[in-house]
Amino acid sequence: MVVAVLGGTGKEGSGLSMRLARGGYQVIVGSRDAQRAADRAAEMNKELDGDYLTGMENSAAAAAADIVILSVPYSAHEPTLTSVKDALKGKVLVDITVPLQPPKVRRVHLPPGKAAALEAQAMLGDDVRVVAAFQNVSHEQIGELDSEVDCDVLVCGDDPSARDEVIQLIQAAGMRGIHAGPLDNAIAVEALTPVLLFINNKYGIKASGIRITGID
Ligand SMILES: NC(=O)c1ccc[n+]([C@@H]2O[C@H](COP(=O)([O-])OP(=O)(O)OC[C@H]3O[C@@H](n4cnc5c(N)ncnc54)[C@H](OP(=O)(O)O)[C@@H]3O)[C@@H](O)[C@H]2O)c1
Repeated sequence: MVVAVLGGTGKEGSGLSMRLARGGYQVIVGSRDAQRAADRAAEMNKELDGDYLTGMENSAAAAAADIVILSVPYSAHEPTLTSVKDALKGKVLVDITVPLQPPKVRRVHLPPGKAAALEAQAMLGDDVRVVAAFQNVSHEQIGELDSEVDCDVLVCGDDPSARDEVIQLIQAAGMRGIHAGPLDNAIAVEALTPVLLFINNKYGIKASGIRITGID
C-alpha cells in the first residue's frame, strides 16, 4: 500500500510519514517542490536508519499513491486540492486540516463550508472518498517517534469502508482510530482542536489530546 503525504515536509506530515513508514507503508512525501520533498524524505530515512520514503511534487505523489493524506495549512487547502484533483480520482483522501483562523487559534472558527473536510468533499466530488482524521493529534506527540501517541484518532467519513482503511493505517502508525461517524461530524472534530490549543495554553502543556473511554 502506497501512501502520499501532501505537505509531508511540514510539522504534522513528517511525523505521520515516519510513523507510517515504520508501520510498513510505502510513503511518498509530497511538496510543492520536488527537490524539497526528496531532501526531506532523505532526512527522514536517515532518522529511521533505512530507505523507506521517497519525495515527489504533490500531484505526482498523489498520482503514485493508493491513499493520499493532505497535511497543509488551511490557507493552502483549496489551492493544493485544486492542483491534485485529477490525481485523486477513485482514491481515499485523508484530510487532516484544521481551519484555524490566526491569530485567534484558540477560538472555534467554522469555515464557509462548516468543515475543511466537507469543503474538500464538495470540491472533489463523489469520485473521491474524503475521510477526516488526525485533527486532534499534535505534531508534538506524532513527531516524538520513541514515545507512544497518548490519544485516540477520531475518524469521520461517509463511506464506512474508507473509514476502515484509514483506521488500519492509523493502527499501523501506532495509534487507535475510532469510527466517529459521517463526514458532517468532522465539523465537531475539527472544532475540538482550538479547544485543545486553549487547554495547552492554559495548563502550560504542549499536546493535550482526546481519549475515548468505554471501548476495550
Ligand atoms: N501541527 C499540528 O500539531 C497539527 C495537528 C493536527 C492537525 N494539523 C493540521 O495539519 C495541517 C498541517 O499542519 P502543519 O503544522 O504540519 O503545517 P506546516 O508545517 O506549517 O505546513 C505543512 C506543509 O504545507 C505546505 N505549505 C505551507 N504553506 C503553504 C502554502 N501557502 N501553499 C501550499 N503549501 C503550503 C508546506 O510544504 P511545501 O513547502 O513542501 O510544499 C509545509 O511543509 C494543517 O492543516 C493543520 O491544521 C496540524
